[in-house]
This record gives sequence, structure tokens and C-alpha cells, in this order.
Amino acid sequence: MNSEHPTPPCCNSSGSGGHGGSGDAEVTLASITRRGILLVSGALFALAGLILAIPLVGYIIGPIMRRKEDQWVDIGALEDFPENQTLLVDFEDPDRRPWDGMTGKTSCYVRRLQGENFQVFSINCAHLGCPVHWFPESGLFMCPCHGGVYYEDGGRASGPPPRGLYEYAFRLEKGRMLVRAGHLPTLQDTMKETS
Ligand code: FES
Repeated sequence: MNSEHPTPPCCNSSGSGGHGGSGDAEVTLASITRRGILLVSGALFALAGLILAIPLVGYIIGPIMRRKEDQWVDIGALEDFPENQTLLVDFEDPDRRPWDGMTGKTSCYVRRLQGENFQVFSINCAHLGCPVHWFPESGLFMCPCHGGVYYEDGGRASGPPPRGLYEYAFRLEKGRMLVRAGHLPTLQDTMKETS
């Protein structure tokens, strides 16, 4: 009969098991520290993501929250616009805020053909919005940014713009020209369709 019995692992005093209590404490402390670091870094990443998302959210919902109705703006008397000419007209953007300063002004091109036959173009290029210039000698609008060119009727002639110039809705009232203004046109939200 074998009188030797295997020593239970809990009672084995040889090797590393001899310091079991201290080793367990170290392991526990290390896992707590690691978990703490993970939690803190996770929270920091979440905070950084939140901070980075604020401008994006503002960009997306800002125009919706701030969007006012377009307004009819008086830009001058009919006799200010000679027939067969295209003139640049400055006016106050109805969506301006007190701190906008000079940027609260905007412009449009008024083309008068004959009588009460008008076209009113946005000054902003249909590509990325740079102000276009009118050249009466060549009868063309040209964009200085990337070379977009438009015909005198606002149609796209060449360059990167995907379409012709945007047109303001307008109406003639008591000898005055009024345009409907208040937002920058985009491909999804042209000004004329808001009239
Ligand atoms: S902004 Fe006018 S061509 Fe690009």
C-alpha cells in the first residue's frame, strides 16, 4: 500500500506557488490598472470624438435651424437698368446678422433685354461659389477661380461649373425691381425654385 499522497496545490510551498498571495495581488492590481487605463483612454477618445463632431453637427443642422424665409428685396428703379445691358447691383443680404459687416452685402447681375424682360443672376459661380465677372466686350461671365465661363443669358459655356448661373426670382412693383433673396443657391436648392 502506497502511503504517499499527492500534496494539494494549495499547500505546495515550492516554486512560485510559495508566494501565491502576493502574486494574485499583483495580477489583480495589474488588471485593475489596465482596466482603468482602458476606461480613461476610452473616455478621452469619446470626448475627443464629441468635440470633433460639434462643428460637423453645426454645419449640418445650422442652416436648418437658422434658415429664415427668403425675402423680397428692392434693388432699384426700373429706369436704373438700361435695355440691352447687364449691370452689377449690390444689396443687403436679408439673412445678414449684425456682426456680418461687409460680408452682409451681396450682389447680383441684372440683365435687361427689352421692356420688362429681365434676367437676374446670382453673382456666385455654380461651381464653388466664387463671384463671377461680367465682360460686356465679349458678352461673357467669367469666374476667376477655375475658369468657368457663362454666356450672357447665364448658360454654361465652358469650365467646371455643372450648370448655368443661378437666377433670382424677381418681380416688378410700382416701377421698382424686387428680387427674392436670403440664401446662397446650391444644386439642390436653387433660388429660382423658391419663388
Ligand atoms: S468656382 Fe467658378 S469655376 Fe470654380
